[in-house]
Amino acid sequence: DVIDVRGLVQEGVFTYDPGFVSTAACDSAITYIDGANGVLLHRGYPIEQLAESSDYLEVCYLLLKGELPSAEENKRFHDTIKNHTMLHDQMRNFFHGFRRDAHPMAIMCGVVGALSAFYHDQMDVTSEHQREITAHRLIAKMPTIAAWCYKYSIGQPFMYPRNDLSYSENFLQMMFGVPCEEYKPNPILAKAMDKIFILHADHEQNASTSTVRLAGSTGANPYACIASGIAALWGPAHGGANEAVLDMLAEIGDESNIEKYIAKAKDKDDPFRLMGFGHRVYKNFDPRAKVMAETAHEVLTELGLENDPLLKIAQRLEKIALEDEYFVERKLYPNVDFYSGLILKAIGIPTSMFTVIFALSRTIGWFSHWNEMVSGNYRIGRPRQLYTGSDARDYPKK
Ligand code: ACO
Repeated sequence: DVIDVRGLVQEGVFTYDPGFVSTAACDSAITYIDGANGVLLHRGYPIEQLAESSDYLEVCYLLLKGELPSAEENKRFHDTIKNHTMLHDQMRNFFHGFRRDAHPMAIMCGVVGALSAFYHDQMDVTSEHQREITAHRLIAKMPTIAAWCYKYSIGQPFMYPRNDLSYSENFLQMMFGVPCEEYKPNPILAKAMDKIFILHADHEQNASTSTVRLAGSTGANPYACIASGIAALWGPAHGGANEAVLDMLAEIGDESNIEKYIAKAKDKDDPFRLMGFGHRVYKNFDPRAKVMAETAHEVLTELGLENDPLLKIAQRLEKIALEDEYFVERKLYPNVDFYSGLILKAIGIPTSMFTVIFALSRTIGWFSHWNEMVSGNYRIGRPRQLYTGSDARDYPKK
């Protein structure tokens, strides 16, 4: 290998860590993960307890501000978010600029980035007040944007947010309601939706959050930074995984084919991977996956789908993989995405919307990290490289 020795000598020693497997790029007080023991804490609180007893907006407050709100603060926060759920009427035009068959992630990425064109006079990164309003706007508007991406793709009229509903009920209403008909959200499905939002709210320095921090380190505006996070989340190795899980289960098609797909996943000459298995940090059960598995069971029972063929394939696949030497040795456990896709599908959400819902949920995590960074001392993020190209050479004489 050719190494840029001159660069190393000039700059001193630096680490070569592809994939940032062992490089901390920042310090942060938001989220703690102990991958070996399957622990995930937000501001010190275990994710299982938050999923059980909190709601998504309270978790947003916690991630953003560092402490749980008092009852009065919580009510005020919920009311404030409700005040910001509408989109500027002109934003409808953005949606209409896209092809109807555009991927909803493509639309979301564009629309969120475009928010900066609406609030350009309130994006001062150094103003705590403006950062707070931006957080409220983003938390409040993401469900409206996400639901409108869906409504646009199926040619139905956009539904406006309703203030009498909770955050997750309102999202379901904007997804599945139609004008002139009263939409009554199912409380079990709304609770499951809220849990999905909570379980995806933050996960420290994952690829999309690191992207948001890197973009933010240049001083870029928060909407542009969140749009960069959405773009990074889109890939199948990250947020696109739950969509990929469902595609994979459909491709497997029948329990009798599972062994064949397990063999493909183990074959190093085959690029196929078991989607929804493995995690860069968790080398034990992902604590979110446990909550998700229970929620999947509740939702499928509520909807009478306990015998859904894809659920059966998923359960069998999980059992086989957990006993297979290849997966055991490499500590490849089901991750949060293995079950979330099943819940979303049962609720009636199309697979192309799965990553959009992840992005909606993760916006608070991205924002909290961006906010933490810009409120302290930070430098522009600028990774180095190990040069492997040609030595210096002369341009050929003509
Ligand atoms: N199926 C089969 N083999 C796998 C899988 C899988 N899903 N995941 C990892 N492996 C194998 C690798 O081939 C490698 O084997 P080797 O040591 O014999 O070469 C070993 O396990 C380690 O894998 P890496 O790719 O080095 O692990 P890394 O930490 O880089 O990747 C990742 C983690 C991207 C999540 C990976 O496990 C994967 O691709 N999983 C499937 C996609 C997925 O579910 N992504 C969602 C992640 S969670 C989230 O974003 C919310």
